[in-house]
Amino acid sequence: MCGIFGISSTKPISNQLIKGLSKLEYRGYDSAGISGHGINSKLITIKATGPIKNLKNKLSKLKGITTAVSHTRWATHGQPTLKNTHPHLSEYIGIVHNGIIENYIDLRSYLKRKGYVFKSDTDSEVICHLMNYYFNKTADMQSSIVSTANSLEGSYAIAAINTHTPHTLYTSCKGSPIILGKGLDANYISSDITPIIDHTKHFISMDDGEFAEINSASIKIFNKNKKVIKKPTKVSKIDKNQASLMGHRHFMHKEIYEQKTIIKDMTSRYVGTNKILPNIFGHNTDKLLENIEHIHFVGCGTSYHASLVAKDWIEQFSKITCTAEVASEYKYKKINVLPKTLFVSISQSGETADTISSLKKALKLRYTNTLAICNVAESTLTRLSSMNFLMNAGPEISVASTKAFTSQLFTLLLLTVILSRKYGKTEKKMVQDIRQIDKKIDELYKMEDEIKKISSKFKNKEHTLFLGKGTSYPIALEAALKLKEISYIHASAYHSGELKHGPLALVDKKMPVVCFLPDNHLARLVLSNLAEVEARQGQTFIFTNKKIARNKKQVEVIKMPDCPDLIVPILYIIPAQLLSYHVALKKNTDVDKPRNLAKSVTVE
Ligand code: AGP
Repeated sequence: MCGIFGISSTKPISNQLIKGLSKLEYRGYDSAGISGHGINSKLITIKATGPIKNLKNKLSKLKGITTAVSHTRWATHGQPTLKNTHPHLSEYIGIVHNGIIENYIDLRSYLKRKGYVFKSDTDSEVICHLMNYYFNKTADMQSSIVSTANSLEGSYAIAAINTHTPHTLYTSCKGSPIILGKGLDANYISSDITPIIDHTKHFISMDDGEFAEINSASIKIFNKNKKVIKKPTKVSKIDKNQASLMGHRHFMHKEIYEQKTIIKDMTSRYVGTNKILPNIFGHNTDKLLENIEHIHFVGCGTSYHASLVAKDWIEQFSKITCTAEVASEYKYKKINVLPKTLFVSISQSGETADTISSLKKALKLRYTNTLAICNVAESTLTRLSSMNFLMNAGPEISVASTKAFTSQLFTLLLLTVILSRKYGKTEKKMVQDIRQIDKKIDELYKMEDEIKKISSKFKNKEHTLFLGKGTSYPIALEAALKLKEISYIHASAYHSGELKHGPLALVDKKMPVVCFLPDNHLARLVLSNLAEVEARQGQTFIFTNKKIARNKKQVEVIKMPDCPDLIVPILYIIPAQLLSYHVALKKNTDVDKPRNLAKSVTVE
């Protein structure tokens, strides 16, 4: 979703701004703009709808500027047009904003009564007029920021520039992240670390209610009473090459191929020869987890699908009962929390608004503890949760999540083993199974050519069905989500046994039905569900390690490596990721940045 990048430097920065905005592209956007101090600190602003290259064409206007704010906008209030593109300007002030101002209609009427004229349909425009209004009263930007923050309801990360304070930027946040980068002859404001790591690894995270004043030489952070506060500078572990394509055509492809190494690293970090290493979820956590009797999982999209697999695993191997809820639903439900219940939030970004507000709700309920499984250190989710597990899968740039999903599953598998200990399951056997995953992934990568060929059979389809049973059902859901989001082909996932209760009516000889069929105790049942499809001449694509006759024209068997049932979900999703990738390539879609979607969904 929207992204913020600001620089105050001793040198011209226009090219750095464009590079920074490009780094924010992965979040999803439909227009972009920049506002910087020109001659006599007057604001020079450029905006463009569409890709960043459209903005680049206007860059000559910013020649020589050394201090500016910039923004990528993902439309929420108002269409993706030039007038709605940030920065928004008032008399002395320019601002960029991430988040949603919930009371913008009231503020708009108030400001209109004060004589302000609105040029956009956005909620964000009230911010610059409010700041200007308060600045006119006090001639003090700090007071203006505090008063503005006091008037706003909702979530925001704001970066502001003022014609009266040359070479200076301001920023404040509540419920939407801001980090400050500390460079040598420049300082930075950003909504995430990606544009900053090209310049510096040293950063400070802002907390809700704080604001900061930065110029090329200093960063000052204040609390809401305008008292200077000292905050620790952290060093990012992200390697800037992790955020580049490294020879792959798309980030999605690169990220699919990173899964083996990530799982291998996680295995060496957390898995001993016969046991999971002690307290991998934090100090003394093995003891805490031993006493858990119930778990409530919460996540969105892919992260929610990971929680569905975890629910199945944990209930299979222990007596712990689990619920898995979509975060946008959990927030509005009455939740009964029994004693000894653990709340687990799962999120790649740690910035998903629905997941964050679910955790905020959970913190007020009587959970024994909260655990966040996340890929981004210092994200809002990890800062709020009392226990954290960082997957360290490296930045996931492609909007379609791949490596985050398998890292989440791997983490949840480790959690399953720990929770199953006291129920007499053989940790040794489970660990042996887990230790096979990374080698098996190599075998899956060898299937890419075969999958590429199969993908041509999906190219012209408008609808598809995905089937699975047991832990393969969430894999069907995830595979369908992948196909939908990057190839724009409608895909529905069902428990294979549900087919005859309705969706079978859709099956005819044109309908591709993808099925995940590991050779386990459920295989016999899934096969009879597939027979129902074949009897209606549906085209089946079966990912399986079971021996199946290939004699029917409409049956395509994609041979999977033999593997223990425990690790099936982690392995079976990988060819499905490759399938949707190749279908999307054939349909010539924007694989890494599918239409209408954002990487970090920071609004509710
Ligand atoms: C998956 O491909 C998605 N783009 C999306 O469903 C994503 O998983 C969801 O928005 C949750 O994001 P998070 O893991 O960062 O919280």
